[in-house]
Amino acid sequence: MVEFSTQGLADKKEIYEQILSQVEHLFDESDNQLSGLSNFTALIKQALGYVSWVGFYIYDGSRLYLGPFQGKVACTSIAIGKGVCGTSAEKRETVIVPDVDKFPGHIACDSASRSEIVLPVVLQDGSLYGVLDLDSTEYNSFDDTDAEYLSKLVEILTKKVIKL
Ligand code: SME
Repeated sequence: MVEFSTQGLADKKEIYEQILSQVEHLFDESDNQLSGLSNFTALIKQALGYVSWVGFYIYDGSRLYLGPFQGKVACTSIAIGKGVCGTSAEKRETVIVPDVDKFPGHIACDSASRSEIVLPVVLQDGSLYGVLDLDSTEYNSFDDTDAEYLSKLVEILTKKVIKL
């Protein structure tokens, strides 16, 4: 069982360092992929208090469909190039949105969402697995620190959980 004591930590860097130090113990290489991804979303939601929704959208060769997540009920399918998730998948770039109302084409799954970050999940053979999406009900919740640490975590996932 992974336990977090995020209270009293000075900033998100410290929380991410704690997540990184624990994450290796979370995954058992014999685990089912969906089990690993599901626990990963729980870990992020548990550790990062400013995250209201976290989950994966998985690429099926034509669209992104809803995968393991924590948070409110969400859209089940997103076209490549649409919304923040589809844009990140199409460009294979991390997209930080400080204010969702200023992102043209933002898909509002949760009307309380104010900011978000989406990272592409690209496998070791270069193929697109999907995206990792984090939402917050506050503006400006995500910054370069989130991008840096989440990309390290995605890299660990592609080595230990999402096997080719
Ligand atoms: N806002 C996302 C859609 C997914 S939900 O936030 C869970 C987007 O614009 O792609």
